[in-house]
Amino acid sequence: MRILSGIQPSGVLHIGNYFGMMQPAIALQAEGEAFYFIADYHALTSLHNPEALRENSRRVAVDFLACGLNPERAALFLQSAVPQVTELTWILSTIAPMGLLERAHSYKDKIARGMAASAGLFNYPVLMAADILIYDSDTVPVGKDQKQHIEITRDLAVKMNETFGEIFKLPEPRINAATEVVPGIDGQKMSKSYHNNIDIFGDEKETRKRVMSIVTDSTPVEMPKDPAGSTIFQLYSLFASKNEVGGIREQFQKGGTGYGDFKKQLFEKLWDYFAPMRKRREEILADKSYIDDVLTRGAKRANEIADQVMQRVRTAIGL
Ligand code: ADP
Ligand code: TRP
Repeated sequence: MRILSGIQPSGVLHIGNYFGMMQPAIALQAEGEAFYFIADYHALTSLHNPEALRENSRRVAVDFLACGLNPERAALFLQSAVPQVTELTWILSTIAPMGLLERAHSYKDKIARGMAASAGLFNYPVLMAADILIYDSDTVPVGKDQKQHIEITRDLAVKMNETFGEIFKLPEPRINAATEVVPGIDGQKMSKSYHNNIDIFGDEKETRKRVMSIVTDSTPVEMPKDPAGSTIFQLYSLFASKNEVGGIREQFQKGGTGYGDFKKQLFEKLWDYFAPMRKRREEILADKSYIDDVLTRGAKRANEIADQVMQRVRTAIGL
């Protein structure tokens, strides 16, 4: 089985990214041949600052490795280290129906939030389809918000296969039901663009502050509280064992504990959970050539597959 996923280096990684995409991707690396990349071409749809793009890309690589990506099992590389993917994007765009792209939620949401409607932003799902199809990927671990992009990828693969003969495999999304939408501190989906994020490697003071500012209702301390509707409880459940979750559920239902106390418990859990990863991160940062070596090796492996698939595509379509 070939597993593939990507993440944009458009900012600092948060715990929604971690539980929605990174942790499932890391868990899957033992089950097959994994390819994980930093989607720097995609990030250009929102970021036009060369230093920031370079720095974020490196940081995402460091953070992903610190969280447990094993470069002996998974190829980690920059999307732009495989420029063939832009050739495939062009080819796919010649068969991509306008209507299909016009229906993309992600595009519509971004425009609604005030992003400029560039041709690149509109074509974003076609580049993503090329990312997936160029590695003959079987399984794509992502958060729920990317599901439609995988459906578009499948539609484009089917259309290519119908037009030119069997070229592409049809990939399957892998969405973890328990973590499909991680809430942010305001209770909405956690997202850096909503400024409601808690970062994986934020400093202690800032992280505590973010946790303590989680929005709650005004149920008094002594009254029972509804765990299901609480962002604190939902986040706590991501970090704690079944027993611990059972324990805090009881405390919610019994009454007598205020939200401030629950937030403190959540902060402790979250902070401890990422402690080994913070340590690993320091080690990675201390070894100056490590990241470059990992990315170079990953890019080499990715290029080998991409070259083979592109040869197949070019022959099939008459180039
Ligand atoms: P953001 O919304 O912060 O810009 P991205 O769109 O870059 O995050 O998402 C990168 C990956 O993380 C995607 O696979 C996405 O589905 C996943 N992801 C992002 N936010 C969440 C969330 N709140 N819950 C679950 N998964 C998420
Ligand atoms: N669009 C994805 C996101 O914003 C990132 C991405 C780009 C991706 N290409 C991909 C994810 C291919 C999975 C497969 O999160």
